[in-house]
Amino acid sequence: MKILMVCLGNICRSPMAEGIMREKITKYNLKAKVDSAGFESFHLNDTPDYRAIKVMSQHGIDISRHRMRLFQENDFQEFDRIYVMDQYNFQDVLSVSKSKEDSDKVDLILNVLEPGKNRIVPDPYYGGVSGFEKVYDLLDQATEQIALEIKNTK
Ligand code: 4NP
Repeated sequence: MKILMVCLGNICRSPMAEGIMREKITKYNLKAKVDSAGFESFHLNDTPDYRAIKVMSQHGIDISRHRMRLFQENDFQEFDRIYVMDQYNFQDVLSVSKSKEDSDKVDLILNVLEPGKNRIVPDPYYGGVSGFEKVYDLLDQATEQIALEIKNTK
């Protein structure tokens, strides 16, 4: 199972999702791979936001080696599932999809907890550290669910 986490900047939410998911893959010894990408090139090749690195490190996860990368069309071939954080990311990914097979891979990550509700993981970039803690909590729950689904379909 290959999973791609997608947000706008690939410096806050999606690298956090990738880092937490990687921990769960290890914890449950899953045969899975995870990566992350974004659509806004302003921070291309940058490390994650310092607040994201800090909150993650408080949970024992180091994401400081991640470097921002852009979503590419080839990601539809490379990954089985593409989880986005909000409706803007959803539109961004769909805008480069070429087939139903592509678009069927895409969903809002919080729909794994509440299918069809279309809740979003709010962009924490312009807020304080508490926003990043909220993002951590939401993504921890969602990635736990994803991990259990993979584990149970082995
Ligand atoms: P992210 O947050 O999408 O969670 O990584 C953002 C980071 C940077 C920008 C926007 C959102 N930006 O426009 O630079």
